[in-house]
Amino acid sequence: TTSTDAALRTPIVAVLGHVDHGKTSVLDKVRGSAVIEGEAGAITQHIGATAVPLDVISEIAGELVDPTDFDLPGLLFIDTPGHHSFATLRSRGGALADIAILVVDVNDGFQPQTEEAIEILKRSETPFIVAANKIDTVPGWNPTEDAPVQATYESQSDRVRGDLDEKLYEIIGQLSDRGFSADLYWRVQNFQNNVGVVPVSAMTGEGIPDLLTVMMGLSQRYMKEAMEIDVAGPGVGTVLEVKEEKGFGTTLDVVLYDGTVREDDTIVVGGADSTIVTDVRALLKPRPLSEIRTESRFENVDELKAAAGIKIAAPELDDAMSGAPMRVVRDREIDDVIGEVEAEL
Ligand code: GTP
Ligand code: MG
Repeated sequence: TTSTDAALRTPIVAVLGHVDHGKTSVLDKVRGSAVIEGEAGAITQHIGATAVPLDVISEIAGELVDPTDFDLPGLLFIDTPGHHSFATLRSRGGALADIAILVVDVNDGFQPQTEEAIEILKRSETPFIVAANKIDTVPGWNPTEDAPVQATYESQSDRVRGDLDEKLYEIIGQLSDRGFSADLYWRVQNFQNNVGVVPVSAMTGEGIPDLLTVMMGLSQRYMKEAMEIDVAGPGVGTVLEVKEEKGFGTTLDVVLYDGTVREDDTIVVGGADSTIVTDVRALLKPRPLSEIRTESRFENVDELKAAAGIKIAAPELDDAMSGAPMRVVRDREIDDVIGEVEAEL
């Protein structure tokens, strides 16, 4: 009985890569916050979602982005941990994403979890770009904070530029060895057939405007149709984490990629032994530009539309599994929805 309410949802961007290559730092730079201060060099134990609205993107990207060129509402970034033991989170993150950023440290090149991420992206046919990170570490680098990368690249001495080129072409070669034709992003005409490599520094912010511009361009051009969803329909998402939360008991951190979820909705969630059917008690939304895993004060909301990271408080979630599907029942038969969830497990 719900009328359809077609709209463009925010594309979901997974950030993947080997441990310490700078995934969280890149997102941090985008967020402008300093989560990294507390966890520099540490393993990211959790996965978070960060919504970046179009106006913020266009502010960061400056002259590179004209917001009137876009009608997508922004980007939703999913950070993933690079540590080898978090393979499930990487593969779920990669599979549910519309597009991805593969972060590669220019000094380290391809490493085991870089390879693993490439395999995930290949398998799920997720379009991606490569952020060749830490360009500021090239000896003699002369930074221009937050600048678009082509300008800063051209302002380096011949020797510095030559050193960086060597590292970048190594990465481009490694991509091509794995069947991806790749090039520096400004030389790529068709991002559908070629992987664009964006040199960046999460430290100085160089190349971050380019990274956002390329991601927006990619989603707008190649994914717009897929982004048309019935935002009023019953919500569908993936559980990223099952967490104990003071005052709420066991909660689910979910990435909602379709429809809506409302307070008091009945939901079906994949569990360790069987599917769980329960009623939403509270919907807790992270504030814009903040991340689930670091947000202590949640916003209580009645309803949330895809795409978004959301925390769901409900009874009987102890058996829920990270990586499991979550579906809102709304005005359908519970058994049908249980069947859909079981089919996805
Ligand atoms: P995991 O989540 O553990 O997989 O690591 P990560 O990929 O999120 O890396 P993180 O952002 O935590 O960065 C790892 C280390 O590299 C930190 O000490 C950062 O300060 C440093 N780092 C990240 N990006 C840059 C960069 O562009 N330049 C320099 N010089 N250091 C960087
Ligand atoms: Mg991290």
